[in-house]
Amino acid sequence: MKLAMIMGSPKRRGSMSAHLIKEMTKATRKAGEVLVFNAAKPERFDEVLSCDRLVFVFPLYFDSLPSHVVSYLEQLAAYIKEHPPEKTPSVYAVCNLGFYEGYQTKWALGRIQCWAEAVSLPWKTGLGIGAGPFTAHLPPEARKKTDNGKEKFLELLFSDTAGDNIYTEPDIPKEMFVEIANANWIPQLEANHLTVDDVMHPKLRHENGK
Ligand SMILES: Cc1cc2nc3c(=O)[nH]c(=O)nc-3n(C[C@H](O)[C@H](O)[C@H](O)COP(=O)(O)O)c2cc1C
Repeated sequence: MKLAMIMGSPKRRGSMSAHLIKEMTKATRKAGEVLVFNAAKPERFDEVLSCDRLVFVFPLYFDSLPSHVVSYLEQLAAYIKEHPPEKTPSVYAVCNLGFYEGYQTKWALGRIQCWAEAVSLPWKTGLGIGAGPFTAHLPPEARKKTDNGKEKFLELLFSDTAGDNIYTEPDIPKEMFVEIANANWIPQLEANHLTVDDVMHPKLRHENGK
């Protein structure tokens, strides 16, 4: 089994998508081979399409896909039209987001599904990971839903099986998540000489001549 993981985060460092690709690559070791491609570099499409599965791994941007991922999908679709592949790799997607509810990725995952259907590749399933970067710092007991979701996704991926999308959240109440997030981003604002009002009411900031 050869997997193409298509990295959809533009970050050079500290990307959750990169972290997820690493985890999945480690889990795949015995089951097959993983080739990693970068959506910011739409090239080597022949190699991508020689794989048995395509796994798009990307962050949620404004409830949708990062624009370079959209561009990648468009270019890959054009390539498929011109060079119909011998194989029909199955399509999977993993989307992580900053907010708590994994369900918010439903529409972004749906866009990958629509793309797969438009290029006649079999769509299998998607995984939406709520509070993505946050989960990497949680102890195992607060990550049960996330870990179970990842495990279920890998089962479907390795067995080339279709299923309903899987959505996960951390095993802590949302209120606690919001408190922890506030305790982090407000000091970051202050370190950059900004206040909560500056971000939440940018018009006021402008009117006050800041
Ligand atoms: C331009 C931009 C738009 C974003 N839009 C959303 C969003 O709509 N909902 C959300 O929960 N997080 C949003 N985020 C947060 C990212 O999804 C989140 O930080 C994610 O973990 C980044 O993944 P990465 O490290 O793989 O790039 C956005 C981040 C950026 C930079």
